[in-house]
Amino acid sequence: MCSDSSRSSLASEAPIGIFDSGIGGLTVAHAVSRALPNERIHYFGDTAHMPYGDRSPELVRAWSLRIAEHLVNAGCKAIVIACNSASTTAAAEVAASLGAHIPVVDVVSPVVQAVAKGPWSRIGVIGTRATIGSGVYGTSLRLAMELNGKPGLVEEWPTPLLAPLIEEGWHDHELMVPVIQSYIDAAGWRLEGPQSIDALIPGCTHYPLALDALRRVVGENIALINGPEIVAKEVCDRLEQTGLTAPAQSKVRHRFAVSDLTLSFTQSAERFFGSGIDLQHDPIWG
Ligand code: DGL
Repeated sequence: MCSDSSRSSLASEAPIGIFDSGIGGLTVAHAVSRALPNERIHYFGDTAHMPYGDRSPELVRAWSLRIAEHLVNAGCKAIVIACNSASTTAAAEVAASLGAHIPVVDVVSPVVQAVAKGPWSRIGVIGTRATIGSGVYGTSLRLAMELNGKPGLVEEWPTPLLAPLIEEGWHDHELMVPVIQSYIDAAGWRLEGPQSIDALIPGCTHYPLALDALRRVVGENIALINGPEIVAKEVCDRLEQTGLTAPAQSKVRHRFAVSDLTLSFTQSAERFFGSGIDLQHDPIWG
């Protein structure tokens, strides 16, 4: 858990805005709520446009800018782009559009920095077509590893079926294992022996929901990077640096909203945050 800031102001009491295309960002929201139990979260799932991973960078960028603006207009003090597809295509634009007084945390940069400092040298990255197509993980991770004095191998592979299956509630369906295995085979990655990858980055915020299936495929010897935990730590640090950490409070109420009401969203939100979620419909697309 992060320490509380002694400075309390109206801004520090404001919620953190977190968004994704659907339920995936809830993995990040949950990690943030555990690390920062005094923080209110205002979550927005753009279910009307899910999946982002198959959309053009222009569309994902335009939607991300509009959602960030919506969350700030709703009073959020910081924004977490809890979507790799949006982080790789729109993080810089979102930060520039909101200005320096609103901290913007994406889900790629903190993971890249953490992995580059870790003990791994052969890294596999899986994600949506948008994320892998951007090449951002490969480029930034190779650079960060070199800067840390340990150049390594980074290979990326798109796994576009996973997020829709997880959104459908199939994260623990028996089909997940063969689907993941087929992608790993297609990527040509070794999972044992001297040529084996030694860490796998699940580069989509939906994927931690299918952690058991991922673990069954990669076995016990390959590190599965816990993106949501790394991002939650970054949120703690950024709030502390900007004096925006919420003061202690006895009851914290989160707000969950979607652009299109879906059953899968309610079920997943309740799984992470308990029953009785009051899911709102924010029809920001008219
Ligand atoms: N959860 C998202 C990500 O991290 C996007 C999944 C999708 O909408 O395709 O990329």
